Amino acid sequence: MPRPLPEIVRIDWPAGHDAPPTATDAALDRAAAVLRGGGLVAVPTETVYGLAADALDEAAVEGIFRAKGRPATNPLIVHVADVAMARSLASNWPEAADRITASLWPGPVTVVVPKAAAIPDAVTAGGPTVALRCPAHPLARRLIARSGIPLAAPSANRSEQVSPTTAHHVLESLGSKVSLILDGGPCDRGIESTVIDCTVTPPRILRPGPLARADLEAAVGGPVAWPSGGHAGGEPARSPGSRARHYCPKTPLELPADPAARVAGLLAAGNRVGWLVLSADERARSLAGSRDLVVVPMPADPAAYARQLYATLHALDQRQLDRLVADPPPTDEAWRAVTDRLSRAAEAGS
Ligand code: TXA
Ligand code: MG
Repeated sequence: MPRPLPEIVRIDWPAGHDAPPTATDAALDRAAAVLRGGGLVAVPTETVYGLAADALDEAAVEGIFRAKGRPATNPLIVHVADVAMARSLASNWPEAADRITASLWPGPVTVVVPKAAAIPDAVTAGGPTVALRCPAHPLARRLIARSGIPLAAPSANRSEQVSPTTAHHVLESLGSKVSLILDGGPCDRGIESTVIDCTVTPPRILRPGPLARADLEAAVGGPVAWPSGGHAGGEPARSPGSRARHYCPKTPLELPADPAARVAGLLAAGNRVGWLVLSADERARSLAGSRDLVVVPMPADPAAYARQLYATLHALDQRQLDRLVADPPPTDEAWRAVTDRLSRAAEAGS
């Protein structure tokens, strides 16, 4: 018999209220019970939706890998309620982790530290370190506190697909592979957390994200390194998820140097094209009348762009287009995370 579709519970928790309304409270109790029983729950965070399981239960963690079709070699992030819980999962707490977590948690930054023995090998892909994050989303934090367990949670999508920023994206990607989805509305940041390796000196960013290098350097009180060797081949052993071909839309995406010319060429060859434009110049406007072209104006601010990026890719994937083209973002550091995700998405087509 096919498994039933998941229950989706709309979570309503107005800002400024300490305790959630009754229905939300009951949903949190059910979610905590599913997690304690070794099951999977999709939960919103401020970055993207996560697919959560008890991080200390090896069989539950294996369930995450099965549901996502994720290679066992790609380790998971463990979500904690606070710094005390994080420290209990580390065999050693480096100075850099201490400073980063003291000033930037709860928030979209994940620290990689030496792992405690209690963490199953499945979580860390057999490695000696563990990635820890305290999410800022009140729902995620309540769920961790309510269940009393640290939650292993990768993004709640099939492996290599675009991460979900709404409950609907989770449903589309995972379907009946998850039994309960907590729907907290669209995610605020829209791209995955910044991951920083605190076991090396200076600490090194493994995955750029919502928190910029300058934020991390201010927290650490010293320099922070970028990934060595670019994102395609950099440090596969250190952060397996940072290999290219990740975050891929189903429709091939490219980032050409002259997007207007490329779009015109694709249209002339009979393609239906989606175009993520940063500046609506004359050529974009002149092509915009074409029946075979969907023009999506993207925000000129990197944080706003990040918030909309995955939702835009999900929406364009629904439109039966042949190709997607994105204007290359500006080259300054503020755009690093967006450029990283766009280039990975573009890898699929090449
Ligand atoms: O924002 C986020 O981080 C989201 C939400 C749900 O919290 N989670 C997320 O998880 O993006 P995931 O599994 O899609 O990405 C985890 C990243 C991968 O790049 C993985 O290789 C890296 O973290 N990672 C996990 N454990 C690691 C470790 N011990 N050492 C180095 N990198 C690690
Ligand atoms: Mg992911």
